[in-house]
Amino acid sequence: DWTMGAYREEAIARIREEVGDAHVICGLSGGVDSSVTAVLLHEAIGDQLTCVFVDHGLLRQNEADEVVAMFRDHYNIKLIHADESDLFLGELEGVSDPEQKRKTIGRLFIDVFQKYAGQIERAEFLAQGTLYPDVIESVSFSGGPSVTIKSHHNVGGLPEKMGLKLVEPLRELFKDEVRALGHELGLPASFIGRHPFPGPGLAIRCPGEITREKLDILRKADAVFIDQIRRHGLYDEIWQAFVAILPVRTVGVMGDGRTYDFACALRAVTSVDGMTADYYPFSHDFLGETATRIINEVQGINRVTYDITSKPPGTIEWE
Ligand code: XMP
Repeated sequence: DWTMGAYREEAIARIREEVGDAHVICGLSGGVDSSVTAVLLHEAIGDQLTCVFVDHGLLRQNEADEVVAMFRDHYNIKLIHADESDLFLGELEGVSDPEQKRKTIGRLFIDVFQKYAGQIERAEFLAQGTLYPDVIESVSFSGGPSVTIKSHHNVGGLPEKMGLKLVEPLRELFKDEVRALGHELGLPASFIGRHPFPGPGLAIRCPGEITREKLDILRKADAVFIDQIRRHGLYDEIWQAFVAILPVRTVGVMGDGRTYDFACALRAVTSVDGMTADYYPFSHDFLGETATRIINEVQGINRVTYDITSKPPGTIEWE
């Protein structure tokens, strides 16, 4: 009789045996997989675990504070909050090509992670939230012909380069099982049910050049959109929802004045696995109310559009 409670005990015993008294580094993104990995490891080995949270300055509103509050303050996990936003945003200055953005962020991420991980004494292992589908995919696709649509951001190759062994306690699980395990470990439902967030963060929701001004506007608009979705009880029906700030200013009128501000696009999709997706059929009332709130509450935006492209032919993210 197989239960998540039994799986948890088994996984903890296995981690203890594998790791012994060595130290483990875990990259924490705030996403479900890395969060469950971190909490499970912490139960197994306590202070032998140190998490590294790389803050690239491309996170959503309050995101860094929430991650630090959850893992350092609530769970008492050793956590390095690597605030490297100046580095990332500096290197991204003037970069508008989507692939160049992704590659720049991926490269810096590895440099930064390596820098902080190198400071952790006696580290012998790197923990990763690899799931069963990731294991299958990397086997069945290896060597086969493939077209790169987007360079994904990961830390592949890093363990060997740093001389670290891998611990992957979720590699037998599917996403829904990871959520169940997270629940079993006491992670709040709001954390477990979170929409996916891409490694390159807001960079790929800001087509064209990234500036701090645009990121600030984007964070505020995104927070209003998500608040609307939650208030209407739609969050759990949607796979992913976010705002993209467009690289164009448009003319508007507010009060008796002319405005010349950014346009933005709302994106919300349903999906099973992110491979295909349909746009979410919001009511016109919902869309109208959301547009009004964003324009009233977010200085810098004077036009709101809704992206009704499915995947394919669109992708979920804008870049
Ligand atoms: P697309 O835009 O390709 O996205 O339809 C499919 C899913 O993948 C997420 N995504 C990423 N996740 N690193 C990630 O960890 C990435 O570089 C990346 N790019 C896209 C996207 O948010 C969606 O859930």
